[in-house]
Amino acid sequence: MEVGGIQALRRWRARQSGRVGLVPTMGALHSGHQALMTRARAESDLVVTSIFVNPLQFGADEDFVQYPRPIASDLAKCEEAGVDFVFAPALGEMYPSAPEVRVVAGRMGAVFEGEARPGHFDGVLTVVAKLFNLIKPDVTVFGLKDIQQFCLVKRMIADLDFDIEIIGLPVVRDADGLAMSSRNEYLSPSDRERALAIPRALDAAAEVAAGGAREGAASGGAASGGADSGEAVVESVADGVLPEAIESAARAVLESAAERGELDIIYLSLVDASTLRPCPADFRGSALLLVSATVGGTHLIDNLPLEF
Ligand code: PAF
Repeated sequence: MEVGGIQALRRWRARQSGRVGLVPTMGALHSGHQALMTRARAESDLVVTSIFVNPLQFGADEDFVQYPRPIASDLAKCEEAGVDFVFAPALGEMYPSAPEVRVVAGRMGAVFEGEARPGHFDGVLTVVAKLFNLIKPDVTVFGLKDIQQFCLVKRMIADLDFDIEIIGLPVVRDADGLAMSSRNEYLSPSDRERALAIPRALDAAAEVAAGGAREGAASGGAASGGADSGEAVVESVADGVLPEAIESAARAVLESAAERGELDIIYLSLVDASTLRPCPADFRGSALLLVSATVGGTHLIDNLPLEF
């Protein structure tokens, strides 16, 4: 495995002729990232993982400085996952000066996470476009936990004519059901306990979506433990179940946690997966239940894909 910045990457890339898969990351890697690398490995001859904490996507009051950067253990995880090149550029290499020209995420980037974090998705898309231009991947693999990011990168690929295939892998969860995230490191043990209201809310929604027929949502639910491989588990909505009922089931769980002072809800919404607009009562097609909350000051997101 080679590790380097822009010059080393350009030299390495010029020598390669096979299909290249890219997994872009900000480091602090966990087994969710390793699942992305394993998939990239299966889809290509060579795998590049980028590790770069991108200042453009952090707000002034966010955790850019504090963001974990455990480079030695990150490199070990890349090696273990069979990565060929780790692109780990210095800040000054990626941004010798603040970029004047940036990618603008548009309406889909201004809602939900984009509303909570103004400018976030412009920063994400700008760095992802730079990574695409530098690494020239044939395929890229993203996690579906950051589902809005996935939708926007997919849209950027289409709108800006990048010749790149994008694959989304389902949320990887710890045994307690919490979606894996580098930011989970910020949670104290009691915060973590409180954060479990999020997967519980998704399970409640999945149960209503299934028409209440499912048993044992806590052990086999959409958001409960163990869903660490395979394609996205898309729950089918039973005939006659309305979007409103699904959203209300999740809201009831989160609101009671909020009333106990365990978390603050940022948003919870059942949206059309292709537009991120709220689902009307007669919705048919692919939907997403989007959830975001802060727990002990840590911003967490999760989602549940549903098919009406
Ligand atoms: O999902 C992330 O880790 C980041 O947003 C990404 C895609 C690497 C861009 O900085």
